[in-house]
Parts: sequence; structure tokens; C-alpha cells
Amino acid sequence: MGDFASIYQQSIDEPETFWAQAAQDVQWVTPPQTILDDSDSPFTRWYPDGVINACYNAVDYHVESGRGDQPALIYDSPVTDAKQTITYAELQEKVALFAGALKSAGVEKGDRVLIYMPMIPESITAVLACARLGAVHSVVFGGFASNELAVRIDDAQPKVIVTASCGIEINRIIEYKPLLDAAIAEAKHKPSASILLQRPQCQAEMIDSRDIDWHDAIAAAKPADCVPVQSTDPLYILYTSGTTGAPKGVVRDTGGSVVSLKWTMKNIYDVDPGDVYWAASDIGWVVGHSYIIYGPLFAGNTTLLYEGKPVGTPDAGAFWRVISEHKVKVLFTAPTAFRAIKREDPEAKLTSQYDLSHFKALFLAGERCDPPTLAWAEKTLGVPVIDHWWQTETGWSICAICKGIEMRDVVSGSPGQPVPGYQMDVLDADKKPVAAGEIGALVVKLPLPPGTFSTLWGAPERFKSSYFETFPGYYETGDAGYIDENGYAFVMARTDDVINVAGHRLSTGAIEEVLAAHRDVAECAVVGVADELKGQLPLGLVVLNSGCERDEETIVPELVQMVRERIGPVAAFKSAAVIGRLPKTRSGKILRATMRSIADGSNWKMPATIDDPVILDEITETLQRLGYGRSS
Ligand code: COA
Ligand code: AMP
Repeated sequence: MGDFASIYQQSIDEPETFWAQAAQDVQWVTPPQTILDDSDSPFTRWYPDGVINACYNAVDYHVESGRGDQPALIYDSPVTDAKQTITYAELQEKVALFAGALKSAGVEKGDRVLIYMPMIPESITAVLACARLGAVHSVVFGGFASNELAVRIDDAQPKVIVTASCGIEINRIIEYKPLLDAAIAEAKHKPSASILLQRPQCQAEMIDSRDIDWHDAIAAAKPADCVPVQSTDPLYILYTSGTTGAPKGVVRDTGGSVVSLKWTMKNIYDVDPGDVYWAASDIGWVVGHSYIIYGPLFAGNTTLLYEGKPVGTPDAGAFWRVISEHKVKVLFTAPTAFRAIKREDPEAKLTSQYDLSHFKALFLAGERCDPPTLAWAEKTLGVPVIDHWWQTETGWSICAICKGIEMRDVVSGSPGQPVPGYQMDVLDADKKPVAAGEIGALVVKLPLPPGTFSTLWGAPERFKSSYFETFPGYYETGDAGYIDENGYAFVMARTDDVINVAGHRLSTGAIEEVLAAHRDVAECAVVGVADELKGQLPLGLVVLNSGCERDEETIVPELVQMVRERIGPVAAFKSAAVIGRLPKTRSGKILRATMRSIADGSNWKMPATIDDPVILDEITETLQRLGYGRSS
């Protein structure tokens, strides 16, 4: 515990001293002499002459320092009725062996390895094995369709792909292999091999010339040692949605990730070595990278890997069971998960069946936390419930309550105050700071702290133009909001075409690209409409080609199917409406925000620049017919 104000201030006034000190808490092959090289901003380089290995910090170091017998990983899978505890020593053995298997398949330092896997221990083994070799992993979430996978294969150009025969969605088997085969067929880049884990639930068909069985691969492998890498070498690429359909390959470097993530475990989450930490997310998202895999392992915690859902596996008491059975100290999840539990068990009766006495705090992120959900979680759990705000780009939170430094008040509706390392401002369209309480663009003064993204894979110009050009000297978060007089941030909405569905980040532009490819669609727009469970859901508004004789009942199901096939079920695209014309400004800009307000039933003003006001009456009528826009 310490004095938050002075720690925060030091991080802003003397970032090099602050991050030099944090760097002493991790294991270097060669400790850095230079802490910060910002000569080519925004390509900030932290610890540029340091040499390190992330896997060593996550695994080997703990074995060497006497934690070998401590559980590193607890796997709890209600969907397969399996549980497994893996100690640090066992994890070291598994990771070293699989790293050997990757090496035999030709993987070397700097090569990319794409990982398309469900929530099983082998996925973590694969990630850490890449880090061991200094290879760059790129994990793709299982809910994406093969086209999205193909786009990522072409961008990352992996030498090897690691996969499993299936994922399991409650009681449905999702076969991964046909999706992977289709993606490789579609992609221009061809990996030289794929290593596949056959799960007992489903046997995948193998292609002899390319596919290697996981068990055969490790049976033939020799354990591989950690390969030292430069601190600034990439640890991974993680694709995330941007404004267009082309995903952005967020690159995270190695040294900055080790230092910052380890720092957050104590200072933000307040966990110590040996504590059980559970991020109920997916390894395909940034939360999974930072807080299922790396952060807790760097800190010598026990990380919990849960292959299940908050409800339905088997009931709304699943989270309480896991917390009690594995003595979880801290849980991190998205508010959607709590809304789902609250909907099924509004009085939280199921908590009475479980001993939650080890549980000390709930952290929420991924989407705005609505005050009723926060209040319900606080009442149900009787521990601090801390909303915190961050993004794939930052890798760890921009705003939070740093429970491990000083447990400040939680303010409902706010994800807390800027975390050490982040100097925030709220700017208006003229790039001027606004007064406390006024809404503007939420920006972070450069340099960004260690562990944030260092570039976009293969797209340094896009990195600069997407994030650093609108507000020179700042990182543009893409979120709008305000900071109140007490320094608490309020994150209100995205300023771009990104929407948040069940805590999953999606691009409306990407969905529009799919709809526009339908033969009967002349024009379209996709907006994120408020949803009680998932926060937002995409809604398509389509204009058909003139002369099209097929009707809405035929076309809409086709559109739904196309999005499922091109982007994946995770897009949760289930509704679209056919309208006569899209509302536009006189200069031709589609008025998406107005359509969203109509669909939400919230107050909206007739835009002064609209070319044809009558069209909005028609849209209102159409959306009301579909059940939208009735609340106010
Ligand atoms: N592989 C394949 N399909 C997947 C998938 C995966 N890894 N994850 C989700 N899907 C599918 C779902 O089965 C669903 O398919 P359907 O349309 O056939 O029903 C679709 O993608 C949409 O998924 P989702 O939006 O997650 O809805 P859901 O109804 O399955 O679950 C919640 C709703 C609230 C239970 C779930 O979203 C949840 O637990 N979210 C909060 C936690 C979280 O993961 N946050 C992420 C960032 S922290
Ligand atoms: P992702 O990159 O998938 O983590 O999504 C990041 C986006 O999710 C942010 O830019 C916000 O729009 C939103 N987000 C994440 N956490 C919060 C939060 N605590 N409050 C409000 N919005 C959030």
C-alpha cells in the first residue's frame, strides 16, 4: 500500500525513474541501461537495450525460485466435465517440449505462429512455447469464421498454425479443422505445417502433407530452452477491429509487456504470488493475453482457465462454484457476464450454496458498466467491484482504482482514475482541453507507458494515422467521455465505427462490407443498438437495388447467414431492416448516429444538414414495426 497521488505523480513527472524501478522486479538476460528511447515518437521504445525472455519470466523463473510445486494453472471445464491442475514445474516441462516441437517444425525467433484454439491448457502451452523461442504468436478467437482467419493468415504470414479439433459452446461442438482448412485454402500465404490437438469430443481429418498430430509432435521433440530476445522484439500480434473491415494487428513488445503486466498484478489487482486469479474471458481477446496468460504467470499467481459460460454450464451459479472451489481471490470479467447471471438469478440465490470467503474483488472491463449491474454485483458479492477501462491497444488499464496501492472510492458509472503511466486529457474538436465534466475525446499524452502497442503489424503508417494524427502529441483512444472534478473518468461512447457486443469489439464497417456484397443490396449501414444483455447488438439497414423483386423475408435471413459465414457467430448479427433510402447529409455522409438514436428510442434532433428529412419518418416506422425504438 502507498500514497496513490504521489506514486501517480512520479510516473508522470519522472517516467524513466518510475519504469526503471518497475523493471527491477523482472528477470533480464541483460538489464537495460537505457529506459526510454522516444526519438522516433510515436514509435516509443522502452528498455531498448534490455535482453529478456517472456516465457522465462512466466515459468522457469518460478521453478528456479522455489515455486515449482505451486499450481500455475487450474483448468476447469464444465463443458467437458474436466478439471486439471498444472504446477509451474509441470508447465515448464510441457512448454519446453512443445517449444521443441515447434522448433522441429521450423519455427525460429521472429517467425509468426498462428494459434486457433479453444480454452484448454494446451493453448497456453502453445502461447508460452512461442514466447520461449522468441517466435511471435497471433491468437485468433474461435468465434471468428474462416474468412477472418484467412485475413489474419495473410497478414501475419505464420510459418506454423497450432489448432485443436474443436471448441465447445455449452453443448455444441464447433469443429475447427474445416474452418482452418477453408481459411488456408482461401489465404494466399500457406503455412508450412499445422499442429493439431485431437480432442476426445471430435476427431479432425488430417492432411498428411501438412498436419501434424500434437502428441506425435511432442513425442518426437526435445525440450527447447528460452531464447533471449531484445526487449523491443515483438511478443505477439493480436488483431482487433478498426473502422474498416481490415483488422488491425496490434503489436506488443516483450520487455515492456513483462514489466507492465507484472506491475499491474500487485498494484491494480492486489494479488500476491500464490493467489488464485481468474480472468473469465477468452485467450483470443486481449484480456486473455494479459490476464489469463501473461500477467498472473509473471507474478507467480495461479491462473484459472475456465471453459464454460456464466450461465448454462450448468446454471447461473457457475461463477460462484468456480470461485469457491478454487479459492479465487480476484475475478475479472465483462459486465455482460454479470447481466447474464442477474437475468437468470436476480436475487443471487445460488450464492448461498457456495463459500465465497476467499474472494476479495471483482474487476470489470470490456464495455461500459451500467450502474444497476455494478450495484447488483456489489450487493451480491460484498466485495469491491471495480470497473476499469482499457483497450487491445493499451494491453492494460488506462483508468482503474489501483486497489493494491490505495483503495479509493468507487464511483458508479466511472471506470476510475488514470493509472500510473497514463496522463489523460479530454480535448475538443479544436484540440483544446475542455473543462472538468465536459465531454470530449479521451486522449493520453505521449509517451505511452511500457506494454502498450508498439506498432501495427506491417502497417506503421496506419499506426500513425489511426491514433496519433488527429491530436498531435497524444494517443487518441477512440473513446469519448469526460473527467469530473475529482479526476474520475467517464467513458461514454466510441468516436468511430466500433461497437461492443457482449464485451467483444466489432467493426460495423466490417459488417457493412459483408452486407454490401449481397447481390440485392445497393447500400447499407450498420449501427450498434442498445441491448439489455449484450450492451449493444448490430442492426443492419439496407437499401435494395431498384427493380429487386425479392422481399425482406427472403433477403434478411440471407444477410444474417452471410455475416455468420464471413465474420463469425461472434458478430451476433441477427437483425436487419430494408428501408427505401439511407438518411444522409447534403455532402453524402450517412447519418448513422441518428438511426441509432431512433432504434434506441432515445431523443434525437433532426440534423441540420440532412438532405431529405422525410426519410427519417419511414425509418422510424420500419424500426418500430421490428420492435425497436419504443422506449424513451
Ligand atoms: N467459438 C465459437 N463460437 C463462439 C465462441 C467461440 N469461442 N464464443 C462465442 N461463440 C458463439 C456463441 O455460441 C454464439 O453463437 P450463436 O449465435 O449460435 O448462439 C455467438 O458466438 C455469440 O456469442 P456471445 O455474444 O458470447 O453470446 P452467447 O449468447 O453465447 O453468450 C454471454 C452470452 C453473456 C454468456 C457471453 O457473451 C459472455 O460470457 N460474455 C462475457 C465474458 C466475455 O467473454 N467477455 C469478453 C471480453 S472480456
Ligand atoms: P477491446 O479493445 O476489445 O478491449 O475494446 C476496447 C473498447 O471497449 C474501449 O475502447 C471502450 O470503447 C470499451 N471499453 C473497455 N472497457 C471499458 C469500460 N470499463 N468502460 C467503458 N468502455 C469500455
